[in-house]
Amino acid sequence: MAASGELEKFQKYIKMKKLASKLSPTGKEAALVTSETNIRYLTEFPNSEGTLFITRDKAYLLVDFRYGEAAQNSVTNAEVIVYSRYYDTINELIERYGICDLLIESNSMTVGSMKLLESKIETTGCKVAVNDRLDKLISVQRIVKSKAEIEKMRKAQQITEEALTELLNMVKPGVKESELAFELEYLMRRKGASGVSFDLITITGKKTSMPHGVPGDVEVQDGDFVTFDIGALYDGYHSDMTRTYAVGHVSDEQKKVYDTVLKAQLTALEKVKAGVKASDIDRTARTIIEDAGYGEYFRHSTGHGVGLDIHEEPFVSLRGETILSGGMVITVEPGIYLPGKFGVRIEDMVAVTHDGYENFATLPKELIVL
Ligand code: GLY
Ligand code: MN
Ligand code: MN
Repeated sequence: MAASGELEKFQKYIKMKKLASKLSPTGKEAALVTSETNIRYLTEFPNSEGTLFITRDKAYLLVDFRYGEAAQNSVTNAEVIVYSRYYDTINELIERYGICDLLIESNSMTVGSMKLLESKIETTGCKVAVNDRLDKLISVQRIVKSKAEIEKMRKAQQITEEALTELLNMVKPGVKESELAFELEYLMRRKGASGVSFDLITITGKKTSMPHGVPGDVEVQDGDFVTFDIGALYDGYHSDMTRTYAVGHVSDEQKKVYDTVLKAQLTALEKVKAGVKASDIDRTARTIIEDAGYGEYFRHSTGHGVGLDIHEEPFVSLRGETILSGGMVITVEPGIYLPGKFGVRIEDMVAVTHDGYENFATLPKELIVL
């Protein structure tokens, strides 16, 4: 136990050092990390209100009194400062290290927060660097998951699948979409999820033509497709899966659309392995759907990365330039949506390996009529 604790501590230390080493060798540049997920990634400390101030040599986690004790007990790769006056502390660190350029996360900091920061540090002469360099530096680290991160996502997926398997007993004519969403969330939490990955999508009948339809009072009817796009949150990490089921019976058109989506999904999955460009995965799925005559009804991208955020790098779209490498976690989720009729989406979340992928999802994908 002690040895694995030391190893985890060392890995956390390396994670922070790796980012710090990318800052200017002059030592005059610092990174200000304020987004919840990036702070969680770097320190493994969950908090909703904190700031990492990282220099080439040392990292500080600034928290207010509410998080002080918890942070001091668990953060091992940054010195915890429980501040009273936030900007005084920032200015003090800027002066202490002679920082001239402060990198911020341009993708998550609001314009208001940035302007306030600029005005508060003006007297030090330090400038806020308004570009996406810091976003990219962290994203490059986060895009490849560690064994421990992958284990958490496996667990999130396992909870999701166990909950859905139990819920399927409830999917009958007369049950409301909102009841399915509520029950599913309850089951996930009962099984150890800390929450849901996103507002669960449990939609039926005509509403399945809306890729992100919101569950409401609509009741399941015989002949419906029911789409579950669902995921659990486990120790900060997300899972993401979609399954579409038929209720009672299926028409020829429903079967044709389902089989086309399944073929697109399976063929795109076959492409997944280290060294492949993300856009090739998208193109593979899209070509199959286009060739079947449904191209105009598949208008979202084929997938996305998943981790501490539900949607993160790499993006599996026609414009996805990322070359996949081992440890990246992506979804493969083509769909066909016929307005006013029905839709089908099938989604798995997989970890890329050197010769293929590990599929987190294990639930069957052939058409099931409940
Ligand atoms: N659940 C959202 C998505 O599949 O991207
Ligand atoms: Mn999904
Ligand atoms: Mn997804």
